[in-house]
Amino acid sequence: MAVHPDLWPQARSPIGLDPAMEAKIGTIIASMTLEEKVGQVLQPEIRWITPDEVRDYHIGSIENGGGSFPQGNKHAALKDWTDMIQSYWQASVDRQANHATRIPLMWASDAVHGHNNVLGATLFPHNIGLGAAHDPDLLRRIGAVTAAEVRSTGMDWAFAPTIAVARNDRWGRTYESYSEDPRIVSQYAGAIVEGLEGKGATFLDKDHVLATAKHFLGDGSTDNGRDQGNSLVSEQELSKVDAAGYVSAIDAGAQTVMASYSSWHGVKMHENRALLTDVLKMRMGFDGLIIGDWNAHSQIPGCTLSDCSIAFNAGVDVFNVPTDWKALYGNMIREVQSGEIPMTRLEDAVRRVLRVKFRAGIMDEAGPAQRPNTLKPIGTPDHRDVAREAVRESLVLLKNNRALLPIRPSAHILVAGEGADNIAMQAGGWTLSWQGNDNGPAEFPGATSLYTGIRQAVEAAGGSATLSPDGSFTTKPDVAIVVFGETPYAEYMGDQTDVALHHANNESLALLKSLKARGVPTVAVLLSGRPLYVNPQINQADAFVAAFLPGSEGDGLADVLIAGKDGKPRHDFRGKLSFSWPKRPDQTPLNVGQPNYDPQFAYGFGLSYAAPVQTPRLPEVVSTVNYGDRGVYFAKGTFWNGYGLKLEGASPLAYAGKPVSTGAITAAPSPRDPQAVHLAWKGKGGISIAAATPSDLSREANGSMMVSLTLDVAQGPSAPVQLVVGGISLPIGPMLHAGANHFEIPLPCFKGADFNSVSPLLTLSTDGTLDIDLKDARLVENKAAVACPGA
Ligand code: BGC
Ligand code: BGC
Repeated sequence: MAVHPDLWPQARSPIGLDPAMEAKIGTIIASMTLEEKVGQVLQPEIRWITPDEVRDYHIGSIENGGGSFPQGNKHAALKDWTDMIQSYWQASVDRQANHATRIPLMWASDAVHGHNNVLGATLFPHNIGLGAAHDPDLLRRIGAVTAAEVRSTGMDWAFAPTIAVARNDRWGRTYESYSEDPRIVSQYAGAIVEGLEGKGATFLDKDHVLATAKHFLGDGSTDNGRDQGNSLVSEQELSKVDAAGYVSAIDAGAQTVMASYSSWHGVKMHENRALLTDVLKMRMGFDGLIIGDWNAHSQIPGCTLSDCSIAFNAGVDVFNVPTDWKALYGNMIREVQSGEIPMTRLEDAVRRVLRVKFRAGIMDEAGPAQRPNTLKPIGTPDHRDVAREAVRESLVLLKNNRALLPIRPSAHILVAGEGADNIAMQAGGWTLSWQGNDNGPAEFPGATSLYTGIRQAVEAAGGSATLSPDGSFTTKPDVAIVVFGETPYAEYMGDQTDVALHHANNESLALLKSLKARGVPTVAVLLSGRPLYVNPQINQADAFVAAFLPGSEGDGLADVLIAGKDGKPRHDFRGKLSFSWPKRPDQTPLNVGQPNYDPQFAYGFGLSYAAPVQTPRLPEVVSTVNYGDRGVYFAKGTFWNGYGLKLEGASPLAYAGKPVSTGAITAAPSPRDPQAVHLAWKGKGGISIAAATPSDLSREANGSMMVSLTLDVAQGPSAPVQLVVGGISLPIGPMLHAGANHFEIPLPCFKGADFNSVSPLLTLSTDGTLDIDLKDARLVENKAAVACPGA
């Protein structure tokens, strides 16, 4: 697809080139060896590099990825962080690191909703909630607080903001987007960059950090909302919609931009020279550095993790190469020597790195441990106040019949639902780990759950709040607040084929129904990373609040839900939807301005106390699909998300809960366990888990996901047993033993499989006899580096 740079918007950074600085950089570059230059353009991840290696390979920057901590300790203290960073920094300024000039390293972290990788940090609402606040000044203050907390750990660089304009809410990163509307994204991008980096006299001073506008470009407009997918929008739309935030980010002085995993018309962004260089660097005048995304270069045809001149020549200045950086270092040196990478390109990249380091003060600053703001407390009351304010502003009221809200503070309130006292659910993905799905109360010192916030608000006024996740009670409450929604996910792990609620959809509805049946009025609070089809829940509840992913300050919700002593609201609802809300689970993409726009709640919708409204019953869609957690195929006796079980054979048989047999294989409800399927082989055959359409597991296979199976072996196999995924079979007989079995096989072990289109999802087959109960089948993250069977 041809690109016409002069049709693109121009930007103008307020920083500008400083001739004296540029001259100094020229002198430094002239004194650097080839090895030193290459080191500056590599960014490894802490788990795969030591301080000694930073010195020996002249490494220019390091990142800590999600779920990566000093000594692997999730509960690491501030001091553990600064000690660790100091030791790497010290290595980078050792005389042997860069022989002629001291070039300290920079440290980057995904501080995307506060300094979220660090225990005790202030956690802001994710971007989707902030979009509903329509308040750029709030974004400026959030950026400033985030910068202060990043500074406390001695780091220099936040991989934020995400300024994607999410156009299809199936996307697992919808919550990282402020809005489907480029106008909001554009207003916010500049404001948050100013907050993070400072402005004018405060630009990148001791209180501020480098910001990263990400992911350039088109991450939010991919086909079917697929993460790392392919955007097929026109050049005009790409430049007007997707690029809107980049213009204001650069206008605000953004110093780094991260390239996107995604493609535009089939070309990976990491190889798109026209967009990275001709548009971003030339047309928009971006003079900072382009950082690659996590191993993203390896996805370019012709590239590997450790070899990718294509990306570098296209304009990526710093490789995000967590693991294979050493081999990449060797290959780059060779490629510059052979001319495959022009020396001018390498020197341009190094110039950009050094320019950013000079502007950020990194060249002259003391080590991280000695900087004025290092070890300043994080999660302080004044920081949390900003987050609490952000929570108040981001709530969108979708229904409030008979003015059930606000609740008088003398009321007796039942706080029910899985999300009631669940800060992990409030915080979502990118929280202390990549997926954020392994957190509990111990991970959130100083934070407030929604329940705690409500309790604090009512107790002072003589009311009471009782926590009851399952909705049971002995004394009938005046009102129940039911908190439910999505459990945490990040990136492609959150992709869906629809906009249904996949987690506890039926359970949340049943809870609202049972409270209603017992005569208790209900306020439903939805925690979610995207607008969801939840009309049945909205119909059951008397009031309904979309709270998105509010973060660590649950009391912000109570500020709005609970009235003052005089019965009047203390704060009104101010949030207005920055994403259109669907009326059917399959209604996506759904964006304001599109033809036949027919949302349940339109872009900009949001009720308030000031203007009460009665909401009529909403239309409900009858669905035959069991919506369950993403990546779960069979659990608790149910097949989820459109997957089912098939007995393979000349004429395959579907299992639907009643005994079926092909002669060779029988499937039936297990007499031993009501939540298992009993599978008995008498002869050659296979059983498959499959959906109507093939599954795309390419990102799961490329990342770190594995097939997880739980089964019980009543009678072991008489012949070899195969597990087949994507046409590749692995012998699993040796892994089976009598009794309970649980095994996990990383997807990449199915070497050679076509993960783009996997159908069936998996097949279990044998030629002999075998008798098992299948209990659970799903995909899980390979956190502990599980190896391939037999390896
Ligand atoms: C994400 C980026 C993130 C990077 C570094 C990637 O997988 O796409 O948003 O900044 O990881 O952790
Ligand atoms: C990292 C993330 C990264 C992801 C990609 C994780 O281990 O922490 O930052 O985005 O891997 O696979």
